[in-house]
Amino acid sequence: MRLESPTTLAPPPTLAPGSATLRAQFPLLQQVIHGAPLAYLDNAATTAMPLEVMDALQAFETRHRANIHRGVHSLSQYATDDYEAARATLHQFVGASAEHELVFTSGTTESLNLVAQGLWAGGPDQAWLRAGDEIIVSGLEHHANLLPWQQAARQSGAVLRILRPDAQGRLHVADLQALLSPRTRVLALTASANATGERPPFEELLRMAAQAGALTVLDAAQAAAYAMPALAHIDCDLLAFSGHKMHGPMGIGVLVGRRSALERLEPLRLGGDMVAQVRWDGADYAELPARLEGGTPNVAGAVGLAAAARFIEQVGRDAIAAHVHALRAQAVQGLARIPGVRVLAAHATQSALVSFVAEQGHPHDIGTLLDARGIAVRTGHHCAQPLMDHLGLGPSTRASFAAYNTSDEVERLVAAVAHAVEVLR
Ligand SMILES: Cc1ncc(COP(=O)(O)O)c(C=O)c1O
Repeated sequence: MRLESPTTLAPPPTLAPGSATLRAQFPLLQQVIHGAPLAYLDNAATTAMPLEVMDALQAFETRHRANIHRGVHSLSQYATDDYEAARATLHQFVGASAEHELVFTSGTTESLNLVAQGLWAGGPDQAWLRAGDEIIVSGLEHHANLLPWQQAARQSGAVLRILRPDAQGRLHVADLQALLSPRTRVLALTASANATGERPPFEELLRMAAQAGALTVLDAAQAAAYAMPALAHIDCDLLAFSGHKMHGPMGIGVLVGRRSALERLEPLRLGGDMVAQVRWDGADYAELPARLEGGTPNVAGAVGLAAAARFIEQVGRDAIAAHVHALRAQAVQGLARIPGVRVLAAHATQSALVSFVAEQGHPHDIGTLLDARGIAVRTGHHCAQPLMDHLGLGPSTRASFAAYNTSDEVERLVAAVAHAVEVLR
């Protein structure tokens, strides 16, 4: 029996962020850890999944699971419909227009690798990147938006330039202006820095780079759950995000962008489903999006991700953004009052996370003491080691918020950090 495969987003908001009704949708949160109710504050790493998404996954796996595109039997057609419906939902979720195409990947990391490798892999005659070209990457990036560019630069002979943040971790448009040159081919930038919470002026930075003729790449991994930019309204050629950071399944993500930009990418997954004609000695690739989706895709993941997008719309993006910004402000205020604690990017208001260091107390020790009180945070370099070095810091402790977190949990966080710093003094 055919499942309903809605391609539209959800009806108006019905679930208030931080409310008991919303929290009840998340079984993960209903747990007790070390005798205390779980306060899950590691959402920048991975968010919890609501029942609605689990239901969508289960419905697909129980009733429609089959391989897509190649089958004439009914289940294969239902699965194909589910997959394409998920694509349509996400196309809408990112505010894409008719000039945009959406490709499913395994996550932000694969999306960004596909872009950096795909721009180079066509060979010297076709590649977008050639020796002497310049790639600009912001200094706020997660390693997933730096390492692929380092490799592409090495392979193509292009030069990697870093748009360095200031001492507070802010990016400035004047600095980008100074870096842009007629050889600039790419600007790769985050919409929200995962290590510090900085929200760069990415709209303006992308606009300047696009005007200079560069291809613009935005890492929206940290924005997806509450602040996904509307693609049609920004100068962005290619945008990447992951399902698990927006209440969707792990192992699914998206690369979406201008068809003309995606067509520049040499496919990296060669094989079934991405070809039009194959001969012994060559092949013609299929049209987008199949061209970049070789092999059996994560169909259930796509279905679950579309359900997650609908869930976010149901709660309301503006409501979630206001909620997480308020939690971050409360956390910044509370943590900054603890002697010896320094909050990173304390100026940032449009952020869902707070990262901090303590004069006394290694982040791993702080994280362990918080865990003993049922509070889950992340500690370390947050896959942004060059940024932490640039800021003169080692590892930090990071608490990150989602729609289901509450002011009480922030209070518990602040009290537990104060206690940890006292114990470790
Ligand atoms: C800003 C940013 N980019 C990329 C990634 C990589 O995402 P994934 O591991 O889902 O591929 C992360 C994950 O933390 C991130 O925060």
